[in-house]
Amino acid sequence: MKRRLMMAHKITVEEDKCIGCGACVATCPANFEMKDGKAHAKTAEVEELTCEKDAETGCPVQAIIIS
Ligand code: F3S
Repeated sequence: MKRRLMMAHKITVEEDKCIGCGACVATCPANFEMKDGKAHAKTAEVEELTCEKDAETGCPVQAIIIS
């Protein structure tokens, strides 16, 4: 049986906070995109974070939550 060694990370964009500045898309186009002026995670749950933490840190209104 294959064991899961890594925890999944959940990526949430709080749409009511997002001001649509696009910084997360510029920082992490691998997993963020704009839709109707708001950012969305392309994949809401990932095994391994790549640039998502940088996007979280760079969001000017703290709309990105990684848990
Ligand atoms: Fe919105 Fe923050 Fe991205 S304001 S567009 S979630 S950097």
